[in-house]
Amino acid sequence: MKNDIKKVSVSAEQIEEMLIRLGNQITNDYKNQEPLFIGLLKGCNPFMVDLLKHIDLYCTVAYMDVSSYAGTKSTGNVRINHDLDTNVEDKDIIVIDDILDTGRTLNAVVQLLKARGAKSVKLCVLLDKPEGRVAPIEADYVGGLVPNEFVVGYGLDYNEKYRNLPYIGVLKEEVYSK
Ligand code: IMP
Ligand code: MG
Repeated sequence: MKNDIKKVSVSAEQIEEMLIRLGNQITNDYKNQEPLFIGLLKGCNPFMVDLLKHIDLYCTVAYMDVSSYAGTKSTGNVRINHDLDTNVEDKDIIVIDDILDTGRTLNAVVQLLKARGAKSVKLCVLLDKPEGRVAPIEADYVGGLVPNEFVVGYGLDYNEKYRNLPYIGVLKEEVYSK
């Protein structure tokens, strides 16, 4: 699998530094609150699991599965494949996702959570691709910025593969024509 990677965009060491910084920020910002972390499957893992270890707060977790992508292009359709098992009313929510690109997915999720009565909704993403933005949304907590190219690893997939890569990288062109 690692032979398919052309270039490492974010190393495992850089990811670890991002986790420590984001964990400290969230711990400070939510000092007197008990946030509910909502992870968007499947890309939020392993980011969410590793980030939570750096957060020193009483908190709860829940997951949702939404999708807006087929292959490497955004379809613009957001579908709820698996809904939350918890009530979000009056909760302070931090939504966790792997990457903010067009913003359509996260924008739709934020609207949905607000419509269901969430007290506050903030966004935390490992990566941000600002050039890809279509929807009017920004993340409150960002690990790092990446240029507008397709990346895989550490939760990010290409046709469901490469999520288990311990770093973030760009695939060789030949992988797409396989
Ligand atoms: P958005 O609605 O366009 O912001 O889509 C965000 C979702 O698209 C992410 O949660 C990813 O699943 C997927 N995505 C966006 N960019 C990439 C990428 O470079 N690699 C893998 N998945 C991506
Ligand atoms: Mg995804």
